[in-house]
Amino acid sequence: MHGHDSTSSPVGRLVAQSLTGQLSRRDIMRRGAALGLSAPVIGMILSAQSRGAMAQDATPAADQETGWSIVMPEGLRTDLDGARVRAVLAAAASPDRDWLEVAIQKFNDHTGAAAEFVPGEESATDRLAIYNQQLGAQSPDNDVYQIDVIWPGIMAVHAVDLNQSLADLAALHFPRIVENNTVNGALVGMPWFTDAGLLYYRSDLLEEYGFEEPPLTWSELQEMAQTIQDGESGDNPSFRGFVWQGNAYEGLTCNGLEWQFSNGGGRIVEPDGTVTINNPQAIESFERAASWVGTISPDDVTTYNEPSTLNAFAPGNAAFMRNWPYAYSVTQAPDSPLVGMVGVTQLPMGDGEGAQHAATLGGWQMMVSKYSPNQDAAIEFVKYMCSPELEKAYTIERSHSPTIGSVYDDPEVQELQEFLARLKPVFEGGSVARPSTVTADLYNSASIAYFSRLNQILTGQADAATAVGEIEAELLDIMAELGY
Ligand code: GLC
Repeated sequence: MHGHDSTSSPVGRLVAQSLTGQLSRRDIMRRGAALGLSAPVIGMILSAQSRGAMAQDATPAADQETGWSIVMPEGLRTDLDGARVRAVLAAAASPDRDWLEVAIQKFNDHTGAAAEFVPGEESATDRLAIYNQQLGAQSPDNDVYQIDVIWPGIMAVHAVDLNQSLADLAALHFPRIVENNTVNGALVGMPWFTDAGLLYYRSDLLEEYGFEEPPLTWSELQEMAQTIQDGESGDNPSFRGFVWQGNAYEGLTCNGLEWQFSNGGGRIVEPDGTVTINNPQAIESFERAASWVGTISPDDVTTYNEPSTLNAFAPGNAAFMRNWPYAYSVTQAPDSPLVGMVGVTQLPMGDGEGAQHAATLGGWQMMVSKYSPNQDAAIEFVKYMCSPELEKAYTIERSHSPTIGSVYDDPEVQELQEFLARLKPVFEGGSVARPSTVTADLYNSASIAYFSRLNQILTGQADAATAVGEIEAELLDIMAELGY
């Protein structure tokens, strides 16, 4: 009988010892990671252990059904019998997908419509290419598109002006975002959720290594990341200090803007059209980031996007992570090994003149396509998804940050997503915008010029000063084309 005893394999031994309470949560995570177990498996072992030992640890939302917090907004139409609404929303593999499908089902049950979840591309850069293809061909296939906060200038020609039907709803949303989404007086997209780059950290590891607070400056982050990595990587060779988005795509533009702006290095192109990228503080910030590659960050961080970053952090293989708010709910899901061990705060800043905390403004809006044959139903769908009720539910269950101020002040949001409520000033207006208003429909070319060179700096293919000079030259051409 002992031939097949579970304790004969390393994994079996880990499970057995954890159940008898011989191992701490940290030991289980370390050994699980060293055995190459995935986050959900480690999470299962941890939760089996905690059911026995510390059942009171369970988070309040842990046993709730997806969509449990959705309350139907008042005044929606109930006569949309069978009306098709194809809505291009999150990526197919998004952790938010199940929630969105439930939200859509509730909309259909209430209104009679036949709305459908259509997955979009994972990368914002790829997604834009597909949207441009479909909308450029005036395709009637999709009715609603989620659009990035940097795209109103690009999407304006394809959008129904939502001011005609939803001005009252728009008045509830942050004025800064409504203004961002308004092109020549037309509301191109209704704000849905807002994003800001945040620093995630392992509060248990900071404590263990004697750090009382998360880092305020990039130098402090480097020091902490190195110390923790040195201590952890013996048991867990995949462990790294800091993970972020270094691939050549829109996400790197977001990271790069944070590095340079937090170091007093400007916003690439200023709101008045001046190209300011070529300055010593920006260059220094890029050199600093390049020095992380292969030291406190993995060699292949230059291929990371948001999901790969989270794939490193969520199973316990990194001390710090730069990501958007959605990542929090993933790390606190019932099967996560990091429940109660993750802190969230502002990204660090530089040490020199003009240094300040910087979080890139991100976020998504709902646009109704001009080529949709079902515009009335599509508008009703936008009214539903961008209502205070749905924003609140998306915040509570999926940790997306709302675009309606009163949602942050809601007691349930304050209790269940304390970090979002605390960071309200950042989401309300304290984040730094990419230069998408001033570069209008040429924003994507500007961003490509920036992120492709930045990626070369990170991989060591280009030296920072030379690459920045090249970015500057390209941006000057783009601005000239726009008449600056
Ligand atoms: C997030 C942000 C979006 C940004 C993208 C980059 O989705 O909300 O604004 O462009 O990340 O990857």
